[in-house]
Amino acid sequence: MVAMCGIVGYVGPRPSQAILISGLARLEYRGYDSAGIAVIDADGHLGLRKRAGKLQVLRDDLATHPMADGTTGIGHTRWATHGGPSDANAHPHLADDGKLAVIHNGIIENFAELKDELLGQGFTFRSETDTEVAAVLLGREFAASGDLVAAFRTVAARLEGAFTLLAMHQERPGLVVGARRNSPLVIGLGEGENFLGSDVAAFVEHTRNALAIGQDQIVAITPAGVSVTDFAGNAVDVEPFEVVWDASAAEKGGWSSFMAKEVSEEPEAVANTIRGRVHDDAVVIPELSGMDELFAGIHRIIIVACGTAAYAGMVGKYALEQWTRVPVDVELAHEFRYRDPVIGEDTLVVSISQSGETMDTLMAVKYAREHGAKTLSICNTQGATIPRESDAIVYTHAGPEVAVASTKAFVAQITALYLLALHVGRIRGVLSAAESAAHVHELQGIPGKISRVLAEEQAHIEQFSHWMADTQSVLFLGRHVGYPIALEGALKLKEISYIHAEGFAAGELKHGPIALIEPGQPVFVIVPSPRESAELHRKVISNIQEVRARGARVIVVAEEGDAAVLPFADEVLRIPLAAPLFEPLLAVVPLHIFAMGLATAKGLDVDQPRNLAKSVTVE
Ligand code: AGP
Repeated sequence: MVAMCGIVGYVGPRPSQAILISGLARLEYRGYDSAGIAVIDADGHLGLRKRAGKLQVLRDDLATHPMADGTTGIGHTRWATHGGPSDANAHPHLADDGKLAVIHNGIIENFAELKDELLGQGFTFRSETDTEVAAVLLGREFAASGDLVAAFRTVAARLEGAFTLLAMHQERPGLVVGARRNSPLVIGLGEGENFLGSDVAAFVEHTRNALAIGQDQIVAITPAGVSVTDFAGNAVDVEPFEVVWDASAAEKGGWSSFMAKEVSEEPEAVANTIRGRVHDDAVVIPELSGMDELFAGIHRIIIVACGTAAYAGMVGKYALEQWTRVPVDVELAHEFRYRDPVIGEDTLVVSISQSGETMDTLMAVKYAREHGAKTLSICNTQGATIPRESDAIVYTHAGPEVAVASTKAFVAQITALYLLALHVGRIRGVLSAAESAAHVHELQGIPGKISRVLAEEQAHIEQFSHWMADTQSVLFLGRHVGYPIALEGALKLKEISYIHAEGFAAGELKHGPIALIEPGQPVFVIVPSPRESAELHRKVISNIQEVRARGARVIVVAEEGDAAVLPFADEVLRIPLAAPLFEPLLAVVPLHIFAMGLATAKGLDVDQPRNLAKSVTVE
């Protein structure tokens, strides 16, 4: 999966081990669970060392068991997708003759059929990764031609999916070759030495002169120079640029905070969670193959989660019920197991957890299993405890989420729930293939629509969030699928700006909360589409009038072209048109931006808010 692995390559006069390790250290912000390097030493031998765990584990291993150094090397930090974190699954991976090493960022979607082809030719494999298939293919092609660039061209033409690949062969010291498709790779230009990296942080301490490689291109670096060709072998011009970040900024990929970086990744978090799970407009979730009977037999779904993950579950409930007709309840994990719930083998308990380590959620999953329910984990962290405790797993592929405030994982969790709902809806015969395909198309359009919200509204939101810096409290209103988004917007604001905020169902306004409204009180309102839910739209407009009549400052999130909000809104944040169930994936983005903007305006650390931990591993 196009996770956020770290990649470093070096050729030049200097020993490469230290350069590779320090490059990987600057990429640690990307999050990872194993690390490794390969080096061609002075005797022309390819040496390899890789360890599960953090970079320090690899450093310690190299300190106690030194590996011969050399001036040609590649290094990698892996965020596990295919195959959990382990020494065997860590990169680099070797061709079967051990003379060629490969590192990879991304997913090779057709690796299973390629692996079958190679197994049929007698090749053997040491790991369960898709990467090793590329290593064996490259080794086979190099053995035939002796030309590593030509080998890359042949292999790259056969790979489907997204990848950045680097390789080197011990018979070609001083040469590292890379290829990219839908995954980052940049070149660092030194004096008599050259670098490759998944981003400039890999080499910014050595050079700020860089080249960006385009889609479907192959790069060969030697100490003397760099050549870039397309997959057909034609030379291409690449754009030089100077790296303007300093090394510390590069730790966050140039972003002011991890949260800013992760909000910017919301489109790809959705895209990557979909990737590899739609074929011919139909949802295919490989992790759930062979479980049709389980899904056909359930009579109830209970979603258990905490915080933001619970709000994702509240959004997912609407789609699950509409597309599967199975009753769905969403429960806070820490409440679930103390209420003596009525569950059994016809109950599917779906846990949602970015970290996969939240103790409240883990204990709820264990309780569910002890009481006979089937369990399915939606998780963003490969090999985490909650997935390991579950009968089934659907991983989100948001990539590592470092900021305490969950943003890209939230939209990825909703995406995973929608894929699950479509999958189960088809199994239970509730959705026709055409109906499912229509929802799939809507979902596939979401990444581009989120990108539009980021491009068109970010500056506007950051601007007015600054004039709200002294706000004492903010209210968030929403109806239907907008209600969980109101809750999420309030939580995001609370946890990083320390401002009291409350989200509630707009219909509740007259049942109490309207007493809170006084002149100047900021109120966010998530407005449903008038095209599809005229009655809900009309009711929310009247809610806006009620709070405006009492002096509230109203900020609305409404779809493009909805003019009914204009007379009553102090600020209008626009989202692209989308089917009602998909609007939450768009409406939440302005609220994430707003929380970040207000916290920044208050001079707070948006990544590490006070009192909070990224994963609450205690009850
Ligand atoms: C979200 O911004 C918060 N950091 C928190 O509510 C979080 O969603 C909750 O603790 C659940 O974490 P999990 O997804 O790792 O289980």
